[in-house]
Amino acid sequence: MGGKPVWFIACGVVFVALSSANVRSALAETIAEKVEVCAGCHGQGGKPIDAMTPIIWGQQSGYIYIQLRDFKRGDRKSEVMQPIASSFEKQDMLAIAEYFSSKPWPDLGQPRSAKENAERALRAEHSVGCTGCHLDQFQGSGTVPRLAGQSREYLTKTIADFRTRTRGNNPGMSDLMLATPPDDLAALEDYLAGL
Ligand code: HEC
Ligand code: HEC
Repeated sequence: MGGKPVWFIACGVVFVALSSANVRSALAETIAEKVEVCAGCHGQGGKPIDAMTPIIWGQQSGYIYIQLRDFKRGDRKSEVMQPIASSFEKQDMLAIAEYFSSKPWPDLGQPRSAKENAERALRAEHSVGCTGCHLDQFQGSGTVPRLAGQSREYLTKTIADFRTRTRGNNPGMSDLMLATPPDDLAALEDYLAGL
């Protein structure tokens, strides 16, 4: 009696064919997606939104990688960067570092140091030998960061953080900064921002 219940089963089968070119573009997309969030603070065109946020466009790739790794490990403390870096695996960090490193360094238009200040900065530079590591014109290389034209407020903050070891991921840099007189560091911060 009565009709039989009829069950409709809808099956959706999706075939995804992945040629190696597709795999490559899928990976590129993942990195493009992962870096979207960065622009919110580090800037769409590489100019950070806030002066306390460093330029990462055109920064040395090895250096960017080490910082992401250290944020994730908690060796470099940052309430903002730690949760972001924690979501990345090593391969992501290497790809993200490469991505930003290949972008052009933005010009923040910070004023050049006045002559007297520049002379003081260069005397301090010669006595410590900053460019022995940061290289000519403070361009950096590999795991040593570029400092030329970096945000002045950020340079001041991070050098202060090295001195208090709040930034504890490179004890050697902390030792160096503690051994350099504060007035010389202030001159260097002004000089580097204006390069
Ligand atoms: C909510 C804001 C914000 C977002 C989003 C953000 N950052 Fe940052 N980032 C900062 C701030 C602020 C610092 C400086 C931390 C400190 O004071 O030590 C920083 C520092 C860094 C540094 C260290 C640079 C240096 O010169 O030492 C790297 C590398 C970095 N961020 C990469 C990224 C990447 C890659 C992303 C996206 C996946 C990202 N950030 C997203 C705010 C942000
Ligand atoms: C022995 C090599 C060496 C010397 C000398 C040196 N540095 Fe560094 N510096 C480094 C390395 C390596 C880092 C990256 C540390 C890290 O991985 O966090 C660094 C990082 C920095 C940073 C942080 C940049 C950023 O984007 O957060 C500043 C600022 C800096 N150095 C300034 C100086 C100044 C100013 C001098 C000279 C008074 C100097 N350094 C001398 C090797 C050196």
